[in-house]
Amino acid sequence: MHHFVYKNDDLYCEDVSVSHVAEQVGTPFYLYSYSTIRTHFGVFENAFNGLDHLTCFSVKSNSNLAILRLLALEGGGADIVSGGELFRAIRAGIRPDKIVYSGVGKTRKDIEIALKSDILMFNVESDQELQTLNDIAKDIGCKATIAMRINPDVESKTHPYIVTGFSENKFGIQIEDSLNTYALAKHLKHIDVKGISCHIGSQLTEIDPFVEALRKLKELLEELKKMGLDIEFLNLGGGLGITYNDEKPPHPLEYAKALKETIGENRFTLILEPGRVIIGNAGILVTRVLYTKSTKNKRFIIVDAGMNDLIRPALYNSFHAVQPVKMTHSEMFAADLVGPVCETGDFLARDRKMPPFEPGDLVAIMSAGAYSFSMASNYNSRPRPAEVMVKEKLFSIIRSREVYEDLISGEAIPEFLG
Ligand code: LLP
Repeated sequence: MHHFVYKNDDLYCEDVSVSHVAEQVGTPFYLYSYSTIRTHFGVFENAFNGLDHLTCFSVKSNSNLAILRLLALEGGGADIVSGGELFRAIRAGIRPDKIVYSGVGKTRKDIEIALKSDILMFNVESDQELQTLNDIAKDIGCKATIAMRINPDVESKTHPYIVTGFSENKFGIQIEDSLNTYALAKHLKHIDVKGISCHIGSQLTEIDPFVEALRKLKELLEELKKMGLDIEFLNLGGGLGITYNDEKPPHPLEYAKALKETIGENRFTLILEPGRVIIGNAGILVTRVLYTKSTKNKRFIIVDAGMNDLIRPALYNSFHAVQPVKMTHSEMFAADLVGPVCETGDFLARDRKMPPFEPGDLVAIMSAGAYSFSMASNYNSRPRPAEVMVKEKLFSIIRSREVYEDLISGEAIPEFLG
């Protein structure tokens, strides 16, 4: 359910017309619907009613402060993977005791800040990280609460770049090695073992891999009990997919039901780290057509947003629906929607039926709330776009469009270059 709909042939975000925002802020820009984000979070959260759980929004999917604040107000926690994400989460008002920290390459500096911030727990991904965490906690004079991130070796059918829980991936500790790591952790004085975590992949459209992973985690929990470890948290990560095109992912209610059934009578707090399912369909990218041109067998629509603004099509060949901001009702033509970046891979849609866009027309790239602005770059020295949030009739710029000065911020010409 989302709030991007046509009213009299004009695309609206809630009660604000998209073209009105374009006139006010220029293009390209990301546009998010407050009600959609809130509804998605509520639906997900309520699906787990009756079960002890904590929903930690995956900050990497969208780390804008306003979005994090909205989710903080809804009671959400955060799944972070860097000191920068911790900084954002805390600045947005997310409670540290609802923050979990994953990532295979946590630096000493980031670990130290996270320990001092008193976050809920670290999802530890290697023996060496565990030792480092223990050393730093010792220096600070505290204990680090941890879950071991397990690689449960389940196959999840998604894009190979976003599969994470298969044994060939760099993530987590192999489930068969984990007992040794837990034994090591048990004897480290500054480590407090509290959980098991995993994340098997992203944009999953089937429930089975989640259930299989949860079963494996539960089995491990029994083994750990025998070792005298008191596991209070099971973290299943994120990964629930969304509809970009014709995918039919399970509804959060179905997903929650299957997990509840698998959990049965067990007593622990389930942690979930959804990203895409909350924010993916709550945002769009709005761009303007600059030029059109045709070759012998191709038609190109050149717009002012490129792969630096939205890299998913270039990186994963991902599908994002293309919609006119002003409905035309005319015949559709196959075309490539491309950006201004000097790369052949700079496309937003390829060989796609779309209206006969003309220069000046506004185009909406749908499902661009997750891994979109957060993966944007300045490649080709292009300032990153503005981000705007709509709430009913109101809209507010939640990140200004970058200016040229931002592009060189921090750069310096050394004296020896005169
Ligand atoms: N937890 C962990 C440890 C993760 O690594 C991720 C995503 C999530 C949670 C959230 O997963 P979600 O619910 O959003 O599927 N850039 C790619 C997606 C990379 C996902 C990385 N990890 C894309 O644009 O599709």
